[in-house]
Amino acid sequence: MKSITFLFLIISASSYAQESDYLNDFLKPDFHEGRRQVFRDKMPNNSVAVFFANPIRNRSNDVDYVYHQASNFFYLTGYREPGAVLLLFKEFQHSEEIGEYDEIVFSQTSLNKRPVFDGEVLGPEGVKSLGFEAVLDAQKFDKFEIDFSKFDFVLQEKFFNDVRDNPSNPADLFSLIEQFKEKIESAKNLEIVSEGEYKMSVNTTRIREIMTELREIKLKEEIDMLRKAIDISCIGQREVMKGLHPGMSESEIQGIHEFVYKKYGAEYEGYPSIVGAGHNGCILHYIKNDKMKVKDDLVLMDLGAEYHGYTADVTRTIPADGKFTKEQAAIYNLVLKAQEAAFKNCKPGNTFSKSGWIARDVINKGLAKLGIIESEDHEHFYFPHGLSHHIGLDVHDPGQYKKYEENMVITIEPGIYIPIGSDCDEKWWGIAVRIEDDILITEDGYELLSNKAPRTIKAIEELIEQDNIFSEYDLPPLKGQY
Ligand code: GLY
Ligand code: MN
Ligand code: MN
Repeated sequence: MKSITFLFLIISASSYAQESDYLNDFLKPDFHEGRRQVFRDKMPNNSVAVFFANPIRNRSNDVDYVYHQASNFFYLTGYREPGAVLLLFKEFQHSEEIGEYDEIVFSQTSLNKRPVFDGEVLGPEGVKSLGFEAVLDAQKFDKFEIDFSKFDFVLQEKFFNDVRDNPSNPADLFSLIEQFKEKIESAKNLEIVSEGEYKMSVNTTRIREIMTELREIKLKEEIDMLRKAIDISCIGQREVMKGLHPGMSESEIQGIHEFVYKKYGAEYEGYPSIVGAGHNGCILHYIKNDKMKVKDDLVLMDLGAEYHGYTADVTRTIPADGKFTKEQAAIYNLVLKAQEAAFKNCKPGNTFSKSGWIARDVINKGLAKLGIIESEDHEHFYFPHGLSHHIGLDVHDPGQYKKYEENMVITIEPGIYIPIGSDCDEKWWGIAVRIEDDILITEDGYELLSNKAPRTIKAIEELIEQDNIFSEYDLPPLKGQY
């Protein structure tokens, strides 16, 4: 009896510890407040910026898609619920109700369904704990006295075009956007242009420009978050490599990755998981993942865990039967060589475009040497995508793509895809290889963040020999005995 009580205590203590670690691990209010201040510094004088939360999107009937906050809204607030709007002012404002303020959030008090179905929402008091002083119920937005005509600039993002009205909630996102539009329209009508007064103008591009400048350089807290997302993704890649066998399906492989993500507290996939065996790997956005047996194909696995908002983007390509054939190895090593060559250019001051050309040059020369193209300057579509992009809150995070700067986090992802029927020897058909890694640009070079997932043929083949977490738990067929 004693030992059972003791065990219970250990279990509850450890799950409590895990839970509080999880909650404590989100970006802190200071981070978001600091980002708002830098954003404000970059705003034009006498301006206000308006950010809406992401809408809820309907899947069918009374089932919605899993909610995900808009990245800019999350970056500036840390607030992960729908039905809210943030106003950020360049200068302090004054109102009878709230006194002095230079930012204000309107938040939902309920999502208009019973909490027993949807749980509680933060509400204005909860949003204050995210570091805001001025927070009002979204129902007050309509009547909130704000004269937009007095600003030189109203900065807003483009409106979502798929926001549904919830007729029973007069303060849902649809209503907030409509109310905002009305306020802007009446402000336009009120504009007085005379000496010392300016015509208010609505700008829909400046927010994107400022957010790009902010988000393309990561702060330490963001890099720490990305390291976790990337480690989790690499462990997923390792578990699949260890358990891989020709009888597996593409979606079973996807399931192992995603199980590992959840196990380590990642909430989502950063983008729909891509698991393509053989020719399926040639389809760049292949997300059907419905081949029932991967057999002896190469399996291209492009997956990224999203941990507390930040997403990894890691691709490994592995032989389902454990050994690369001669042709698969030739293509694989060529992609690896292109990636290694591009890495060498990754340091502050060098350009994104040069890395692209370096990788392309290696691939062109290699394809010509293997006889897949006639000569290195022969036009082809075997490497049909870009080499690199920023990652962060979005898998394709905003960036200017000019020169590398310290604390950028980017992918380097060369690939060669030879669809069935290509204009080359049949022995190459159906081979698709992408090797995608995530790197941090450092003061004088780069750090490979996705190094927990093996990249060389030798290391991959060795890992495939091992057992994975599920090796002893294979389930009998659905019609089998339970
Ligand atoms: N997974 C999308 C990409 O690699 O860009
Ligand atoms: Mn990518
Ligand atoms: Mn990818």
